[in-house]
Amino acid sequence: MSKTIRVAVLGLGTVGSGIIRILQDDPEMIARRAGCQFDIRYVVVRDLQKKRTVSLPSGTVMTSDWHQAVTDPNVDVVVEVIGGITTAKDAVLAALKARKHVVTANKALLATFGDEVFDAAKASGVSIAFEAAVAGGIPIIATVGNSLTGNRVESIEAILNGTSNFILSEMANKKRAYSDVLAEAQRLGYAEADPAMDSDGTDAAQKLTLLTRLAYGKKVEVKEFLRQGINTLELADMLYADELGYRVKLLAMTRLVGKQLEMHVEPTLIRRSRAIARTDGAINIVELHGNAVGRLIVSGPGAGEMPTASAVVADLIDMAIGRAQLTFPRLELWNSDSGLSVMPAEEIERRYYLRFTVEDRPHVIADITDILGRQEISLSSVIQHESPERDASGASAAVPLVIMTHRTSEGRIRAAEAELAKLGSVRRPHIRMPVAD
Ligand code: NAP
Ligand code: HSE
Repeated sequence: MSKTIRVAVLGLGTVGSGIIRILQDDPEMIARRAGCQFDIRYVVVRDLQKKRTVSLPSGTVMTSDWHQAVTDPNVDVVVEVIGGITTAKDAVLAALKARKHVVTANKALLATFGDEVFDAAKASGVSIAFEAAVAGGIPIIATVGNSLTGNRVESIEAILNGTSNFILSEMANKKRAYSDVLAEAQRLGYAEADPAMDSDGTDAAQKLTLLTRLAYGKKVEVKEFLRQGINTLELADMLYADELGYRVKLLAMTRLVGKQLEMHVEPTLIRRSRAIARTDGAINIVELHGNAVGRLIVSGPGAGEMPTASAVVADLIDMAIGRAQLTFPRLELWNSDSGLSVMPAEEIERRYYLRFTVEDRPHVIADITDILGRQEISLSSVIQHESPERDASGASAAVPLVIMTHRTSEGRIRAAEAELAKLGSVRRPHIRMPVAD
């Protein structure tokens, strides 16, 4: 085998180290499948003094000069695993301008500057592959972008953030504290450099925009749909969810309703019998309905060194054999003329879980149900556990009141909430989550 593909890997953190590890683990197998050898010409890092967990091939140059690496005429493919939208964007655009194919795991970059990046690739006649950008090791980009192209996708319901799913699972199953589990997720390499991206739902929302664009040809920005993270959740809500037969997950969803796309990323009560509800740890899951294929569920590791590197190396092999160069021009990622619009949040209809902290005195529940009733919100169940009549100071105790509603609209819930906020007997804030049966 004489052909050699010369690669610059930008970033040697969690994912970059995994890429080097896979390429070194069984180079003969990789070479057989790629039909070539990979020569890692450069590895680009920020801190040249940092101790690394992998040793590099003898000919590899480790540098902090990304510009030199991406413009070197002796580099064919640039792998971007730096992350973020500053240096990574400059480096990817410079690489594309220098006519290098690009493999990236960077959903933030593609969700924010996808058009600019894809246009730059088209202008230079090169390709971009990004399997690792959505759901880590799960081959969901290939599934939606290649294997399901004969389908009209009716809905996508998914867990797309490993860090927040790991946190929710550990809190629910082991009653661990949020901050303690987040620190572990960071140690395990699941979290973003800024873990707020994981906990506030931004990362899942960015991935949902990429999947939505692939599945529907519709460009949607993260700010156009409902997004809430897991950072306001308390263990109490998981326990109530459990009592009601549900589990709380950060659910990312796009659903086709006529010519509209219902989209949201929110902590959601999911009925315990569903596969999504039973998906724990850093595992991601995508449940997709296609008009031809029916219900399809793919699940697997959504974050971490080796699963993510697995997807990056597959993209690298796809570049080597020319598959990425065939599929990239076919992706409708920059095509927004599908006639679809994002459904206004107020029109979204589903059931809701509401948890109030209320004063334990007469008429409180009547006042709340009266307000909900005036918005035609019908209740499906109410939980108020018995509690002491007075707290330690002798004042009337505040108690949790949990309400499950029947199907209603986001608009009606918001209108009811505006009225509930005026009630002196209801403490603020209250918790609200949608329910997916
Ligand atoms: P990471 O561990 O923080 O590694 C980032 C690497 O980039 C580090 O080696 C860092 O250098 C280097 N770097 C940062 N800024 C740089 C700069 N200005 N110039 C040169 N090098 C720079 O990140 P990661 O977890 O591997 O994630 C990388 C990308 O993959 C991100 O886009 C992320 O969203 C995506 N991703 C990650 C996972 C995961 O599970 N971790 C899964 C899917 C996708 P130093 O080492 O010297 O600091
Ligand atoms: N921080 C991301 C997550 C990495 O936890 O899912 C994978 O994209």
